[in-house]
Parts: sequence; C-alpha cells; structure tokens
Amino acid sequence: MEATVLREIAEEFGAPVYVYDSGQIRSQFERLTRAFSQIPRLKLNYAAKALSNLTILRLMKHLGSGLDTVSIQEVRLGLLAGFAPQDIIYTPNGVSLEEIEEAAALGVRINIDNLSILEQFGTRHPEIPVCIRINPHVMAGGNSKISVGHIDSKFGISIHQIPHLLRIVDLTGMRVNGIHMHTGSDILDIDVFLYASEILFDTALQFKDLEFIDFGSGFKVPYREGDIQTNVEELGERLGGRFNAFCKEYGRELTLAFEPGKFLVSQAGYFMARVNVVKQTTSTVFAGVDSGFNHLIRPMLYGASHEIVNISNPDGKERYYSVVGYICETDTFGSNRRISEITEGDLLCFKNAGAYCFTMASNYNSRYRPAEVLWHEGKAYLIRERETFEDLVRNQVDLPALFDPQVADAH
Ligand SMILES: Cc1ncc(COP(=O)(O)O)c(C=O)c1O
Repeated sequence: MEATVLREIAEEFGAPVYVYDSGQIRSQFERLTRAFSQIPRLKLNYAAKALSNLTILRLMKHLGSGLDTVSIQEVRLGLLAGFAPQDIIYTPNGVSLEEIEEAAALGVRINIDNLSILEQFGTRHPEIPVCIRINPHVMAGGNSKISVGHIDSKFGISIHQIPHLLRIVDLTGMRVNGIHMHTGSDILDIDVFLYASEILFDTALQFKDLEFIDFGSGFKVPYREGDIQTNVEELGERLGGRFNAFCKEYGRELTLAFEPGKFLVSQAGYFMARVNVVKQTTSTVFAGVDSGFNHLIRPMLYGASHEIVNISNPDGKERYYSVVGYICETDTFGSNRRISEITEGDLLCFKNAGAYCFTMASNYNSRYRPAEVLWHEGKAYLIRERETFEDLVRNQVDLPALFDPQVADAH
C-alpha cells in the first residue's frame, strides 16, 4: 500500500493501528488456486488463527475459501461469518473430548490428533466421520517453535502408531474421511514438503473411505525484498502431478486440501505506530514507539524480522536505529535498521503484519489493543474499534469493600 494512503488511514483512525489490504489477500488466494489448477478438487481452508477478524473471515468466504479452526471459539466465529459447517475443519490439539463433541454437534469436520480421543470419540459417535492428523516425523519449519511434525512434537498421531489407529477404527466402526498433516510454518524447501507428502500417501492407502487429503500449510512468505519464499507454482506442479497419480492408484478422485494462514494474509497487513521519543545513547539511537510486544509479539517471540519504514519521511536520508516499544522489559522490534531519518511524531509502518500479529496481541501493561482497518476497493473501513478503559475492566469483579472497612460500613 502507498505511504500516503497509510498516513491518511492513521490520521482518520489514529495509531497504533492495523491495516489490511483486501486486494493483496485476493491476489494471494488466486495465486495459490492457480498454482494447483491441475487438481480437479482443490480446497483451501484459511487458517483462522492467523487473523480472525470477522470481516477477514467474510472476505475469505467470499473468495471461495473454507476455514481451518483450532478452537471452538474459532469454529463459532466461522459460523458467525457465514461459513457452512461442512466448509469448516476443526483441528485442535490437546483439547477435551467435550470440546470436540461440541464442534461435532455444530456439524463441522473433525480432525483428531491423538489415539486416546480417537478411541473415546469413535466409541461414542461411530456415525460421525473424522479426519486423522498424522505426525510424519519430518523436521520442517522456520524455527523450533513452529516445527510441529517431528518425532518430539506433541502434534499428530505417529506413523508408527498406524496399526493401533486401524484397530481403533475397526473396533469402533468409525469412518476416516480424511488424512492430514501440518509439519510447520515457514518451510523453505519444497522437497521436505514432497517427502512428507509421500509418507501421507503411503498412510492414506490404508484407509478405504477417504474423501480428502489435507497437506496443512507452512508456505514461507518473503519478509523483505529478495527474501526467499516457497515456490508455490513449482510445488503445485510437482505435488499436483503426484496427487493426481495417487488418486488413480487409490481408485477415487480425492480432494486436495491446504490450510494456509500466513500465505494469504501476512503481506496484506501493515501495522502503524507513532514515534514517541528518539533517544540517543552512548551506543545506539533508539526510536521508541507508542506500541510494544503487546501489539506485535513476533520479533520478541520468534525473532521475526518485520521490515520497518518511516512513512512520514519515506525519502529522507537513511540512518541506523533500533526500534523499541514501551513495554517494561526488553521490547525490540528491530535492531540497527536503516530507516529514513526519524523525528518524534513520525509514523513507522511495520510490514508483514497480517498474520499472527493482531491475533497474538494482549493487554500486557494494561494497554489497549489497537484498531483494525480494512482497505477495500479504494476505501478504508473500520473493522475493530480500539479498546478503551471500559474494555480493560469489563470482566473484572471489583470488590472495594473487601479491604476497606469504611466502604463495607457504608453498606
Ligand atoms: C494445523 C495448522 N494448519 C495451518 C496452519 C497455518 O500455517 P501458516 O500460517 O504457516 O500457513 C497452522 C499454523 O500454526 C497450523 O497449526
């Protein structure tokens, strides 16, 4: 998005503020669909956890996406946004049987990732088909926190437990309609993806009632110019061909599903915060903004590097800055970044702020979560109001009489 438009949005709605460009989301959705055009039945289920604002979910539905959810609350948001239950897949990890039953009662597709729940669910509801999340024991993903398909991971049912899994399916009489894997986020090497897919194909042959195979996600997006990214066109070519061949071997046309989060929304998001203070120390020039990891935690949590641009002075002379937040502990957005000269009051824009940014925001330090704005066909729409003091205290049960006898006496 252009700096002038972003500045106008910050003027109108205030800062800090998240802005999402619907056009960029659409073009990513279309790009992925095109990449897999040789697949007769392709289903993209947007991973709601990346960005779960209702308007974004409605946009995804409008584009023809299904929805990947990990909690009963995400399921409810999806239904509220108008998704049909059968277009929602529920892929929880470590949740209670009751929560899974609640999702099943809402009619969404169920994905189960441990044998204990599989056995209990199959015994109680043999008539409800389920998908199985497999752990293929593959090390993939950009860092240890987002690598989830390896042998030490808590996710999925090990490929070495397939005989046990088949016994449960057999004894309960349940039906397995899908096989799923998700090995991690930010996967750089599509060969790793293809290797894990072969494991999934081998496993799939052991289930006769499949309707779909879900390859999860993990597409790496670029974070700066020239950065590496998953070549989805090549993946589409190679995995697509292999999938079609597999369907012939399986004897039926299956649906190929993905559940992209970052790929669809990361680059469409812009986070803007105003510079409160420029502070020169003996070693560094800090630009301190009116935000912190309470609004954008990825740099501190994952070491993620978001490009930072001074949109108040885009063509100014570049200097080195460390951009930091106002949280009462180390709170660094970026160290030693070359940014156009910063003056107090300038607006800094953090790129790739669409995925796992607002959804991970909190009220730490009793700060308000920011507003969200959708930029759609040349117009800005407020899609979430900035929080207020009332939001901070809304659910608190204030007991003033508990420690103050005078208040107690007055009652
Ligand atoms: C099961 C599952 N599917 C999909 C995703 C989305 O991954 P990404 O944002 O890398 O596309 C995740 C991310 O954590 C996930 O856990």
